[in-house]
Amino acid sequence: MNAKTQFDPREFRNALGTFTTGVTIITASAPDGTPVGITANSFNSVSLDPPMVLWSLAKSSRNLEAFETSEYWAVHILSAEQEALSNRFAKSGDDKFSGVDIDLGLGGVPLLNGCCTRMQCKTSFMYEGGDHIIFVGEVIEFDHQPVAPLVFQAGKYAVATRKSATLSMAPGADVDSSFSEDFIGYLLARAHFQFYSQIRQHALSYGLNDTEYFFLSVLSVKDGRSLEKLNSLFSYTGFEANEQVLQGLRDKGFVRLDGTTCYLTEVGRDSTLRIIAAAKALEADVLDRFGYWETVSLKNLLKQLIIQTDPGLAHPWDDGTEAK
Ligand SMILES: Cc1cc2nc3c(=O)[nH]c(=O)nc-3n(C[C@H](O)[C@H](O)[C@H](O)COP(=O)(O)O)c2cc1C
Repeated sequence: MNAKTQFDPREFRNALGTFTTGVTIITASAPDGTPVGITANSFNSVSLDPPMVLWSLAKSSRNLEAFETSEYWAVHILSAEQEALSNRFAKSGDDKFSGVDIDLGLGGVPLLNGCCTRMQCKTSFMYEGGDHIIFVGEVIEFDHQPVAPLVFQAGKYAVATRKSATLSMAPGADVDSSFSEDFIGYLLARAHFQFYSQIRQHALSYGLNDTEYFFLSVLSVKDGRSLEKLNSLFSYTGFEANEQVLQGLRDKGFVRLDGTTCYLTEVGRDSTLRIIAAAKALEADVLDRFGYWETVSLKNLLKQLIIQTDPGLAHPWDDGTEAK
């Protein structure tokens, strides 16, 4: 068959890239016992009974002969932590295994560690597939562990994030209205208020309202700041402390004043740290239910949103004298 493509090969690659995959490294042992391996995302499942999988190898691969002659090969489904390993096995070279911790599997096939899944396979069929050879193998042994997988999407590495459960809407609510359950302002506000309401309870137990708690937590990041500076650092909350708030905190023994500069007293520091510790425990509890990579993604996206919407505010850990 000599079908000529009617379309741009780059566009075709881009189109294929819209199919999101995991990333594997397939390994084998060359006839002289040299370990060989290649990064591949053409892996797929074929059959459950018998258990079979497939992948395809470019005919241009330096390892074509090794894979064609090896009776066994192993598929390693990479974890999100193994991006560097994926890059290493995606380049032609002789030193792919140098410094890599391996075990030996069936037929002396090198087995990598730290993957989501390892499958040791025996070649069942090899097919010509254009400029690739398709390997179909029977899975003889496998092991797996519950770690986050590495994902490949549109030519880039990614992490898998589960879709959130849909919030139930009030009966008759208009899903298409601009203030729907998908409105990011609503989602952020709701997440914030629900999360913060629990921290507020801790602050209240120390006799601190929202403004006072924000004031003290900013002061706990860096002591010895003026009322004006402190206000500038938490102005994004919409709360503002005035002289009266300051006097109140001093009367309750949380701060002392040196002219216009505020300092935390021992009681003030201890109380603030205890509330922050409770907030951290709450965070750990909530994020525990997310899993590591979803937590990283969530924090990363929130940081990006903060940067994108930042009108130039100072941060609590900045000196507070100048805007970012
Ligand atoms: C995410 C990703 C997926 C890849 N998938 C395949 C594949 O399925 N088949 C293939 O032949 N090459 C694939 N490659 C390219 C090979 O990894 C690369 O060409 C290979 O390591 C070349 O080494 P070799 O000549 O030593 O075999 C992929 C590369 C990356 C980064």
